[in-house]
Amino acid sequence: MRILFLGDVVGNPGRRALRTFLPELLKEYRPDFTIANAENAAGGYGLTEKITEELLGLGLDLLTTGNHVWKREFLPYLAQAERVLRPANYPEGAPGRGAVVLEKEGRRLAVINLEGRIFMRPLLCPFRTAESLAQTLREETPCILVDFHAEATSEKIALGWYLDGQVSALLGTHTHVQTADERILPKGTAYLSDVGMCGLRDSVIGMHLEQALEMYLTQVPRKLEVPKKGAVKVEGVLLEIDEETGRATKIERFRREEC
Ligand SMILES: [Fe+2]
Ligand SMILES: [Fe+2]
Repeated sequence: MRILFLGDVVGNPGRRALRTFLPELLKEYRPDFTIANAENAAGGYGLTEKITEELLGLGLDLLTTGNHVWKREFLPYLAQAERVLRPANYPEGAPGRGAVVLEKEGRRLAVINLEGRIFMRPLLCPFRTAESLAQTLREETPCILVDFHAEATSEKIALGWYLDGQVSALLGTHTHVQTADERILPKGTAYLSDVGMCGLRDSVIGMHLEQALEMYLTQVPRKLEVPKKGAVKVEGVLLEIDEETGRATKIERFRREEC
C-alpha cells in the first residue's frame, strides 16, 4: 500500500501549492491514499467547511488537524465530518473524531491523529491513547498511520519508539519544518519527526515575514497574516506498507517548490 502524506497546509498559498503540485505528485507516486494535515488551511488558522470541500476535491482522502482546528464556526461541521480528524487525545465531549478507517478498492488504512503535550495543551496522554486506539484498530487492519501533531522532537521520537511494531508509521506535524530523520524503526514502524508544510516558501513557517519579525523584535503579540502572493512549496512523504503485516517497507521525503 502506498500513502502520500503532506505537511501542514498554510492558508491560501498552501492551497495554491496543492493545486500546483498535487497532480504531478499523484501521477509520480500513484498513492492508494492521500492525506494532508490541514489545521492551518483557512487563513493560517483552522479550517472551514468550504475549504474542507475544496481540499477533498483536489484528491485528498482525509484531512488531519491539530491544535488550530477549534474554530467556533467549524465545530458543528467537525462534529459530523467523516473525512476530517482532530487529535484523539482531547477529553470526552470535544466534537469530532480522532481516528478513522479509510477503505478504497479493498484496501484498508486506519489513521490516528494525536496532539503532543510539551509546550502545548495538557491533554490526555498521547502514548496511552495511541496504544489503545491502535489495539482496537488492528482488529480491522494492520495498516495504521499516526499523525502526531506536536512541538517537541523529543516527544515525537519517544512516541515513535513506544509505538514501534504497533503502527505502520508515525509522522510528525505542527512545526512546519521538515526534518531529515526519516527511518524505519526495528519493529517496522516508519518514522519522521516532522513532515514540513505546504505554503509560502519565503515566510516564517508560512506566515507574513515582516509581521513575524516585528513581533519577535518588539515582543508585542499580534495575529500574523498569510500573504497571498509569493512562491510556494509542498513538503511530504511517500510511505509503502506491507498490507499483510502492516510493516513499513519504505519512507521517502520530498519537497517541490516554485522557482
Ligand atoms: Fe500547523
Ligand atoms: Fe499546530
